[in-house]
Amino acid sequence: MPTWVQLVYLLCAVGFILALKGLSGPRTARAGNLIGAAAAVVACALPFFYVEGLDHIPLILLAIVVGTVGGVFGARKVQMTQMPQMVALFNGVGGGAAALVALLELEHMVDGVTPGFDLAATAFTIVVGSISFSGSLITFAKLQELMTSRPVVFPGLPVVFGALVLGALALSVLVVTDASVPLGVVLCLVGLAFGVLLVLPVGGADVPIVISLLNAFTGLTVAAGGYILANTVLLVGGTLVGASGTFLTLLMARAMGRSVANILFGALKGGSTLGAGEASDRPVKSAGPEDIAILLAYASRVIIVPGYGLAVAQAQHTLRELVDLLIARGAKVDYAIHPVAGRMPGHMNVLLAEAQVPYEQLVEMDDINGEFKHTDVVLVVGANDVVNPAAKTTPGAPIYGMPILNADEAEQIVFMKRSMRPGFAGIENELLFDPKTTLLFGDAKDSLGKLLKAVETL
Ligand code: TAP
Repeated sequence: MPTWVQLVYLLCAVGFILALKGLSGPRTARAGNLIGAAAAVVACALPFFYVEGLDHIPLILLAIVVGTVGGVFGARKVQMTQMPQMVALFNGVGGGAAALVALLELEHMVDGVTPGFDLAATAFTIVVGSISFSGSLITFAKLQELMTSRPVVFPGLPVVFGALVLGALALSVLVVTDASVPLGVVLCLVGLAFGVLLVLPVGGADVPIVISLLNAFTGLTVAAGGYILANTVLLVGGTLVGASGTFLTLLMARAMGRSVANILFGALKGGSTLGAGEASDRPVKSAGPEDIAILLAYASRVIIVPGYGLAVAQAQHTLRELVDLLIARGAKVDYAIHPVAGRMPGHMNVLLAEAQVPYEQLVEMDDINGEFKHTDVVLVVGANDVVNPAAKTTPGAPIYGMPILNADEAEQIVFMKRSMRPGFAGIENELLFDPKTTLLFGDAKDSLGKLLKAVETL
């Protein structure tokens, strides 16, 4: 590879690092994204300029066109609430592509004398890439509700799973000692089955965390692919994805008070992860927008707790108008941001930034949790699990151990939701039945619009 090409690849790798740095803050995220995308375009285009006698150019161009059209179409069409499953799909095809590249490389290695480490990296890429591909497709199906989002377990699953682990290890050793394409294909099939069985027992709120874990797997396979192909940019890019995916997985697991092992295998020990549960029919106190408007209009300290339902209703702009009005009337109002509110990391930050909410009004959980006891009204907009006291009081609940926002300490709590259905974890929220709590039923956008009008008239 000529020196100038290596230099350009190095610049691309630096671009990926700057992109990650930019993505770590809301002010710089857009620029970070653009830098990363530009580096990826340059890295993809480079082989056309330095590889002599590049074969299959029309096929490569066709693949680029199909990928670009699919990517642009998917990114434009997908709702923000569907982002985790889109990430799952993109991640899965990345892992699958790495496994296919490794299988092709195995064919080249069959006749040549190759050192064992190359073959070990090839076997690793085939098996982990296949796990990532099939596992990501199952997580996509779960989140897109093409199948149940509950944990799927069957008798003998641990035994089959154990057999697959041993089979994958034995086949990998065989591929290293005696490189052969048929063995590689069998290893690939074992990896695919492994991926399916790894993800089937994961359900409910844990699925997005497994997506992040599979993302880390894909990163590692791409890095190993970079080693096999002696390509720096794949090596660096894959390592960055592997490392950031691992960190994200651990951070999300910690924010939910769970270990990664418990997330993956909890259901095998008796169902510690749940999917959507039933709506409660216990009586609650509810009120109309006019009554809630009076509560809000005369409160001096208000905290907003945004959640997944705010994103579903796309009510962020109306919420911002209401908050601006309350501030103009003299109230102190902040948004309390729980680390796993919504369905992806930073979901609420992105949603509220879209509505031009000033960053200083977004307060992280640890910084605002002490404020609730001095708060007149907490307005919970389409959130549920992140204020569910079961996380503190009910051992065995799927969210037990997850740090929550202390909304229960406020003087008055108002929940805006459409029904008595539970949140993502599928369990009842005792706070809904608290004497301090009032429910305003309806779609959040519709209710906020009515609330805004009612406060304006006071
Ligand atoms: P949830 O607990 O899922 O509650 C969402 C609430 O929004 C529900 O009570 C729902 O009730 C209501 N809702 C839905 N659509 C609505 C609409 N159009 N208008 C008004 N209300 C609406 O959300 P949360 O409190 O944000 O918690 C997030 C959950 O996702 C946690 O369990 C968390 O662990 C999990 N999770 C998050 C992440 C990340 S990184 N964010 C990753 C993995 C898992 P109705 O149906 O009655 O309206």
